[in-house]
Amino acid sequence: MDWCRAVVLSTVFSMSWSAEDLTFPPGFMFGAATAAYQVEGAWNVSDKGESAWDRYTHEHPEKIKDYSNGDVACDSYHLWKRDIEMAVELGLKFYRFSISWPRLLPSGYPNHISEDGKNYYNNLIDGLLEKGIEPFVTLYHWDLPMSLTDLDWFSDYARVVFSIYGDRVKWWITINEPLIICDVVFDTGFMAPPIVSPELGAYLCSKNVLMAHAKAWRLYDEEFRPKFHGKVSLANHHIWFDPLTPADAELAELAREDCVGKYTHPIFSSTGGWPPSLEKVLEDVSIKRGYKKSSLPAFTPEEIALVRGTYDFYAMNHYTSRLIRKAREGEALTTWPLGDSPDLGGVVQRREDWPVTTSFWFYVYPEGIRRQLVWLRQKYGNLEFVITENGLSTYAGLDDQDRINYYKDYLRQILLAIKEDGVNVTGYTAWTLMDNFEWMDGYTTKIGLYEVDFSHPQRMRTPRASARFYADLIKKHALDPITVLPLNDTVS
Ligand code: NOJ
Repeated sequence: MDWCRAVVLSTVFSMSWSAEDLTFPPGFMFGAATAAYQVEGAWNVSDKGESAWDRYTHEHPEKIKDYSNGDVACDSYHLWKRDIEMAVELGLKFYRFSISWPRLLPSGYPNHISEDGKNYYNNLIDGLLEKGIEPFVTLYHWDLPMSLTDLDWFSDYARVVFSIYGDRVKWWITINEPLIICDVVFDTGFMAPPIVSPELGAYLCSKNVLMAHAKAWRLYDEEFRPKFHGKVSLANHHIWFDPLTPADAELAELAREDCVGKYTHPIFSSTGGWPPSLEKVLEDVSIKRGYKKSSLPAFTPEEIALVRGTYDFYAMNHYTSRLIRKAREGEALTTWPLGDSPDLGGVVQRREDWPVTTSFWFYVYPEGIRRQLVWLRQKYGNLEFVITENGLSTYAGLDDQDRINYYKDYLRQILLAIKEDGVNVTGYTAWTLMDNFEWMDGYTTKIGLYEVDFSHPQRMRTPRASARFYADLIKKHALDPITVLPLNDTVS
């Protein structure tokens, strides 16, 4: 009901856009994204190693909504040529995909590089470049080799990848969404690896991930940048927080620092280290819980210097927003960051008029993306911002007007951020090129520009209305009424 109302409102709203300048700046890049475990399949082909997600989905099928796994997924390991064709049909400037660490390094360590793994990504990269599409590569999108528990091995893996593909890949993401890897995994235990440790593990993980990113960035900077001239960053998951009442304003700011600042202040601020307000609150909470010191591990001055400044652009994944209010005395709280925040004493909720989606964590609030961009610009200056993920989860169906409206509304807010607020956004990535394994939701929720038929042996890909909308937008380089472009409806 909410959703229908929003679609109608946004259609009426869109009719009044004509007075605005809806063109994107010259050079603004449009892309689409996927990630290895979500699309590749071929989980045990050739010498590929086992990943934490292979093990988790095999041992705990009951944890995934439809008892599925990524064993075959979209079979992109075999169907990569069709994926490139889709990128061409859409007119993408870049394609963001991730490398599967255990596919390239079956043991997790750089002692043995898989020939098949190496060739797979070489073919994909060369195939994209032949069509004039830039590869935009994530080193780590959650499929940790089972053999590894210590992210210190990350820079050895990064060295292998930069050496093999660095001559052709100029856009790199080291680590995708630390918030999910650390806070969601350790606070809830409902993603791989299923370890619950909210008071200690989550914060230890936050520091380890930042150190792993920083070492990989410095490695690129010293050894590879002089010859390859690429750009490296890490991609954060941003949930925008508004206070429920004016009295909750300080709490909302703390929530922004906990969700985003924890992973950006150490890298993007001029001082480095944890956000001071958050550091203070977490120390107080730890002491109250009986620990001798903060469970947020301190950085040494050397570590602060190591992490600070390790970026070449800002990579922003954004989907959704929340309201937050102070918890009442004794009020029961669920877990952060998709639920409440026991650490901050905050109750998290949805604003009534924010439409829900098919993902339990996802409400639609287009203004959130603009406000998040402005917040980041105010904190860290006018960096180069690239939106590395944005898109809507829905039920199946090819006529996805709701997804088109989502893209229009969010892109319009991005244009406002660029034109009214002066934020330097240079690129936008639609999540996702095609339906894929949506983690705990398995294949039940759909986010793709292309629909994938998971019962078809060839994993048939068919463009949705939103694919035609996106291709038209890219062609016009502006938001405009939809014109239907011819797209290939069959597998080649
Ligand atoms: C962010 C993650 O990077 C991606 O893997 C996931 O599918 C999307 N969010 C949608 O949930």
